[in-house]
Amino acid sequence: MTLPLDGRVILVTGAAKRIGRGIALHLAKHGARVAIHYSTSEAEARATTEECNNTSQFKDTPIFQANLEHVSEIESLFDRVHAHFGRIDGLVNNAARFTQIDPLKVTEADWDFIHSVNLKATFFCCQQAARRMLNTPEGGRIVNISSLGGLQPWANHSHYCASKAGVIMLTKALAKAFAPKVTVNSVAPGVIPFGEHDARITRLIAATPAGRAGTAEEIAEAVTFFLTSPDFITGQIMSVDGGLGLK
Ligand SMILES: NC(=O)c1ccc[n+]([C@@H]2O[C@H](COP(=O)([O-])OP(=O)(O)OC[C@H]3O[C@@H](n4cnc5c(N)ncnc54)[C@H](OP(=O)(O)O)[C@@H]3O)[C@@H](O)[C@H]2O)c1
Repeated sequence: MTLPLDGRVILVTGAAKRIGRGIALHLAKHGARVAIHYSTSEAEARATTEECNNTSQFKDTPIFQANLEHVSEIESLFDRVHAHFGRIDGLVNNAARFTQIDPLKVTEADWDFIHSVNLKATFFCCQQAARRMLNTPEGGRIVNISSLGGLQPWANHSHYCASKAGVIMLTKALAKAFAPKVTVNSVAPGVIPFGEHDARITRLIAATPAGRAGTAEEIAEAVTFFLTSPDFITGQIMSVDGGLGLK
């Protein structure tokens, strides 16, 4: 069964800026009712809401603050979104952290900083979403944003790579756990830069067969595919990387 976006309630985490903002704008423009989550970027979240309302037929794109490191805040986030809309049909787990640290120097705090958001929060957001979606006749759709770094080993990002590889396995395991009512898929972005970038990013762009970096809009297109595609498609990982991950 395919599901049009029309009027469906989709929560996008980390939607104030960058890729999350792009996903929220795309979904609002294409008929979804979007819940914008943010943690610290309140002004940017408000700006994204305004932009969404400019194109959305519903003109109701509320913002919800939560520090996703804490399961109690995740539970409260889902309660608030559900209270506002009366339903949650889709979840896009986009919020994440990224650091570059020599693995010989990674501390326990460095490890927890990444994993508490990238992996733990992704899991508990999936759990909160599925508990609600599994109780509805329509079920729901979950899309986890992973990374090319979850598929390829990057030496100075080992802790980040491990967290995103975890997101990829979580996607597959939860796809089995929540089937057939809830699909769980993942979009794995390649290089999606915003503004100035360092020499490493410049090198990665140069190595990308597409000959350029990707855009938030292109990630949003892939997310929309999984939110609307037949429910026979689940547990899948779609790289959106201009071919950078090809071996
Ligand atoms: N950009 C790329 O090239 C690239 C490449 C591969 C994969 N990805 C993945 O694509 C997704 C989006 O990438 P991005 O570069 O746009 O991400 P980003 O700007 O680094 O982070 C997205 C948002 O995550 C939120 N966040 C961080 N810690 C949080 C916490 N403790 N609680 C709640 N929210 C928290 C932040 O919200 P606030 O600002 O409100 O605090 C932030 O705006 C991520 O999953 C990333 O790993 C990106």
